[in-house]
Amino acid sequence: MRNRLKLGALALILLIISGTMSACDKKVSDVMGDKASSIVSENISSVKDDVSSIVSSDGEMQSSSFSSSTLISSNAIKVTGISLSMTQVSLIVGEKKMPIVAMTPKNAMNKDEVWTSSDSKIASVDKVGNILGISKGSCVVTVTSVSNPGVSAKVSVTVKASAVDASTNADWRLKLVNKQNAIDDSYYVPIGTIRGIKVDSRIIDDTEKLLQAAKKDGVSIGLMSGYRSISYQKDLLDRNVTERMNQGMSYKNALADALISVAPPGKSEHNLGLAIDFSSSTSADLNESFQNTPQGKWLKKHAREYGFILRYPKNKQSITQYTYEPWHFRYVGVESAKKIEASGLCFEEWLERK
Ligand code: DAL
Ligand code: ZN
Repeated sequence: MRNRLKLGALALILLIISGTMSACDKKVSDVMGDKASSIVSENISSVKDDVSSIVSSDGEMQSSSFSSSTLISSNAIKVTGISLSMTQVSLIVGEKKMPIVAMTPKNAMNKDEVWTSSDSKIASVDKVGNILGISKGSCVVTVTSVSNPGVSAKVSVTVKASAVDASTNADWRLKLVNKQNAIDDSYYVPIGTIRGIKVDSRIIDDTEKLLQAAKKDGVSIGLMSGYRSISYQKDLLDRNVTERMNQGMSYKNALADALISVAPPGKSEHNLGLAIDFSSSTSADLNESFQNTPQGKWLKKHAREYGFILRYPKNKQSITQYTYEPWHFRYVGVESAKKIEASGLCFEEWLERK
């Protein structure tokens, strides 16, 4: 009751103020000065706040809205069963499938669902149930009712690796990316992690075998860089250009010089997740002297056995358009790597003659 009286009095003040303003056709600030006007407007907004707080703290109004929502939730018809259009799904890496969900009873009030994967490194699942193959293996995807978390359904997922890319229908291992052949963000890379770096998850097994074989030979090889997003590649190039400009080069010269060793965004094999910069230690040693390290020597001789080629050889700069990089290896698969290295051709030449 006291609140209602307060609301009535404040509303009256509002009416008087607005009536005075319209009668005189003058701004409050004209009449009372800026400071007084701001006090008035503060009071007007506090009146508005009071109005809303009175409304929300009003016993009758609050209890009527509270009881209606209580009624909905206590009487809600819960989901009691979930069925899926598939209970087993087979995917190749990069492929997506979505089971159709049916919830019972049909008149259940809240049919929201939550999807989870038992191993998102093998298959991920999004909010609406798209299951995406990430890497070779098996896992289980579960859909659960939000209104009744005790009710769920499961799909067994098997993911197979395939030479054929699910999105491009071509052999993903032989995808050519260079200054003439770019990819954009729509190119799907199933990213995985090995020893702290990101790569296409399909090359993890062979990379691990390579590292183990080198270790057996007494050579400890580090991984410096694998997958890079296209936007990261742009930042990398920009940084390289800026460094050169800081040393006094013009923008044009700095860019031309940087592009001999850093690819433009979308034109780097790192954007594919199929290139790895190896190192002789955990610190950066990405320079020509890498070829003389035990790691550089071992990789030159053995990388092909695990599917990697030396991508930018010394004598092929005019074709690759990059300077010699004894640390940068590109995954193409074991069979192709052996053939390419035996041919003495660089990747571009080999693909053309294949
Ligand atoms: N360093 C190689 C060319 C790259 O940036 O992809
Ligand atoms: Zn590289």
